[in-house]
Amino acid sequence: MSAYQYDHQTIKGFIISSVFWGVVGIIIGLWISIQMWQPSWNVAPYFTFGRLRVVHTNILGFGFGVGAIFGLNYYISMRLTKRPLLFPKLARFHLYLFNTAIALAAVSLFAGMNQSLEYAELEWPLDIGIVVLWIIFAVNLFGTIIKRKEEQMYISLWYIIATVIAVAVLYIVNNLSVPAGLFKSYSLFAGINSANVQWWYGHNVIGFIFSTPILAMFYYFLPKSTGLPIYSHRLSIISLWSLVFAYLWTGAHHLVYTPLPDWIQTLAIVFTIFLIAPSWGSVVNGFYTVAPDWSKMRTNYLTKFFIFAITFYGLQTVQGPTQGLRVVSQLIHYTDWVPGHVHMGTMGWVTMTVCASIYYVIPRIYKTEIYSVKVANSHFYLVLIGQLIFSVSMWITGIQQGALWKAVTPEGTLKYTFMETLVKNYPFWQMRTVGGLIFAAGMLFFVYNIAMTIRSGNAISGPASKGVR
Ligand code: HEM
Ligand code: HEM
Repeated sequence: MSAYQYDHQTIKGFIISSVFWGVVGIIIGLWISIQMWQPSWNVAPYFTFGRLRVVHTNILGFGFGVGAIFGLNYYISMRLTKRPLLFPKLARFHLYLFNTAIALAAVSLFAGMNQSLEYAELEWPLDIGIVVLWIIFAVNLFGTIIKRKEEQMYISLWYIIATVIAVAVLYIVNNLSVPAGLFKSYSLFAGINSANVQWWYGHNVIGFIFSTPILAMFYYFLPKSTGLPIYSHRLSIISLWSLVFAYLWTGAHHLVYTPLPDWIQTLAIVFTIFLIAPSWGSVVNGFYTVAPDWSKMRTNYLTKFFIFAITFYGLQTVQGPTQGLRVVSQLIHYTDWVPGHVHMGTMGWVTMTVCASIYYVIPRIYKTEIYSVKVANSHFYLVLIGQLIFSVSMWITGIQQGALWKAVTPEGTLKYTFMETLVKNYPFWQMRTVGGLIFAAGMLFFVYNIAMTIRSGNAISGPASKGVR
């Protein structure tokens, strides 16, 4: 047992906030999935699909995802630097500001305040708040790392550092705008430049929120929970640097067949293909870590979560580069195939890794055991089945949609009207809601398990605000 103390209060706060925003975001996800096949669920003006969809993406990406990233990466960085956070009070302020920002983000999006840039919808006063949040995280993280008691920098720290630097650059550049009042602004970029900067941001913000910080968790919690050392440190470092280098060039694969100069599209596509290598560096590292003892898939419930999560990451990072190719993009772009891709990553890779990490952390900071491994196993199977139903039905309908849009008569006119192609989606959209409901049921098992674990922890040891571990 070490002689230093960690402040767990802030970490608990971030984890509970993240779970809370996750529940809110998933409920809204279910709602918008119903709106797609049951238009009467659009209650104007605040609860229409257009308003709710952005609340769904922002709350899950920035509330659930970033909340978990802040909390779990604070936890990881304290362990890897072998010291408490340099500024614990600042971290507490960070937590309060984070929840205020996410609540205001939800309210402003409901109210229709929107910059009309995907994943950068928030208006400028909130943008400033978001930048402050990341600066606070950076100051605490870098300060803690500089003053670390452990000389070696384990790979997770590098992934967190890459996340902070990339998010700062991306967020600031894409949100540069001229305010026209408190709730309205005009972007500094226009026309095709705006599209180019937006998708440079859009692709990378996904990468640096849904890949690198989640990989930081994966590299830390997989060896911790299995007791097996990571297969190759060298491979993890090579993967990191090549991932970061290649990622930043790929945004234009979202703009294939647009007026964006052809050479920019081609450059992006080349780097997109290259991305398979560093992504699979981590996939291989994950599999080989568990390879000495595959029985852990049966005996240790967390191994299952992590190995399936990295498998979905592996599938996602082959599907993604394939989608970037012109020949594939012309079929699937603008279709439901893309939400299928998105949710394999978010529901499979991201949510499974985050939940498994929380399962690992919560019993430790509450000094107890997980409430029920059985409930955790049910959670696992439900989210797995729900996600597969969701993704597979979107892939099928996406290909059908693309093919119907492209079909032409011998005279060269379009064979199907837009409405004809639209109604063919209905059964698949209904399937998606079914998949979403199963996934949401799984997440309820998770919330119940965590809440009961916290309760038993409090019962055993009283308020466990500070723990020595
Ligand atoms: C029960 C679970 C969920 C349901 C039912 C659901 C439903 C939906 C629906 C209906 C859309 C709109 C698709 C469209 O515009 O055609 C969407 C988009 C999106 N969702 Fe979810 N979702 C769920 C979980 C999640 C989770 C856990 C995350 C992130 C952690 C997430 C992130 C996103 C993102 C980023 C988009 C935008 C996709 C794009 O632009 O192509 N969703 N979701
Ligand atoms: C090697 C890695 C990856 C590559 C090359 C890649 C590539 C792509 C491409 C080409 C698209 C655009 C599809 C279209 O609209 O035609 C896309 C969309 C998307 N991808 Fe990936 N992907 C990768 C991994 C991931 C991962 C790990 C996630 C995590 C969840 C993810 C989340 C998304 C999201 C949210 C979108 C929708 C963007 C939008 O709103 O339009 N991707 N991806």
